[in-house]
Amino acid sequence: MAEIILKNICKKYDNELYAVKDVNLEIDEKDFVILVGPSGCGKSTTLRMVAGLEEISSGELWIDGELSNYSEPSERGMSMVFQNYALYPNMTVYGNIAFSLKVRKVPKNEIDKRVHEVAKVLEIEHLLDRRPNELSGGQKQRVAIGSAIIREPKVLLMDEPLSNLDAKLRSQMRVELAKLHHDLGATILYVTHDQTEAMTLGTKIVVMKLGIVQQIAPPKEIYDNPANLFVAGFLGSPSMNFIDAEVHMGNDDVILYFNRMTTGKKFILCDERADIAAKKAMNKSVVLGVRPEDVYTYDEAKKLGFERNTVGMEVTIESREMHGAHTFLYYTIDGKQNSICVSHDDKTKVGDKINIYFDPNKIHIFDSQTEQNIFYKGEKS
Ligand SMILES: Nc1ncnc2c1ncn2[C@@H]1O[C@H](COP(=O)(O)OP(=O)(O)O)[C@@H](O)[C@H]1O
Ligand SMILES: [Mg+2]
Repeated sequence: MAEIILKNICKKYDNELYAVKDVNLEIDEKDFVILVGPSGCGKSTTLRMVAGLEEISSGELWIDGELSNYSEPSERGMSMVFQNYALYPNMTVYGNIAFSLKVRKVPKNEIDKRVHEVAKVLEIEHLLDRRPNELSGGQKQRVAIGSAIIREPKVLLMDEPLSNLDAKLRSQMRVELAKLHHDLGATILYVTHDQTEAMTLGTKIVVMKLGIVQQIAPPKEIYDNPANLFVAGFLGSPSMNFIDAEVHMGNDDVILYFNRMTTGKKFILCDERADIAAKKAMNKSVVLGVRPEDVYTYDEAKKLGFERNTVGMEVTIESREMHGAHTFLYYTIDGKQNSICVSHDDKTKVGDKINIYFDPNKIHIFDSQTEQNIFYKGEKS
């Protein structure tokens, strides 16, 4: 049985707009569930309703098989870690971590044992005598996490816990959070607007937009099988390429014609994708979506045997970005920035013109009107 179930959870603040609308979500034991989406999409509101810090306007919240809409935050067996740490400035690190157990009148020697255990996991044993103002941002965040996990909560709630840290520390803490999740076997509900955190930490990602859940799936599933244009564009860096097109019947083929049909830029669909496009998008305006790593130069495309599918897609490289193992080359189509991922020893220079080719088994087609991915197969889990 899922530990936490949200059924049609809605939130309206004083105005008549929904901050969160009809969220349905199941959180199982040991899940690391990530609520992700742009600022204002209702992530914190959803988390706070689960925590009991915000009233639920309608819908049902089930915790361990009990309807819990009105249970007190302290009865829910959850601990929360906030973005701004929320430490007691006058207490030592030891005092901060021990606090919730002291309040519960846990015996001193038991507290001492648990504080040292937690400090060891978080590698802050050497900091126990310091006060918060003597700590770096990353250390403060670890202490905050220590205070949250010492109670051994059923569920750990985190709202953008890394967003006050600099980039290097953020990626370090990301690795540590993943380790913590693994070592403690904790159930975590985690809010972030950062797609990298979502992709690297989540066992299950919930993508939200304007208070509405767009898709719930494991990271790889979200990446390979995005439900719509928004999800496809939000996760992945650099973003998926999007190119406006129309679907038409050629002599024997189903063809995507790009913007100006007269210039002969086109892409020939094959196999199952051709059948689906013929059924769902014939003569319609669509958006072709293809990830940077599924775009190829001529030589690569020829090696892989799909150089004939793409016709006339010449682009001018506007910038290049070395990322260690890969290089990204950027170009513009219809005013939109797109990119191709090439190997780190690729010699293409800024200003060069190249022809780009798309992997016919990896492309997506989005209906321009509904923005739905016509190849989307639903959730597999
Ligand atoms: N206390 C509040 N009163 C009124 N509106 C609020 C309040 N808190 C949040 N909102 C609104 O609800 C929406 C969702 O906010 P929030 O959950 O904080 O988004 P996120 O965490 O995804 O950035 C936003 O439009 C925000 O302005
Ligand atoms: Mg928020």
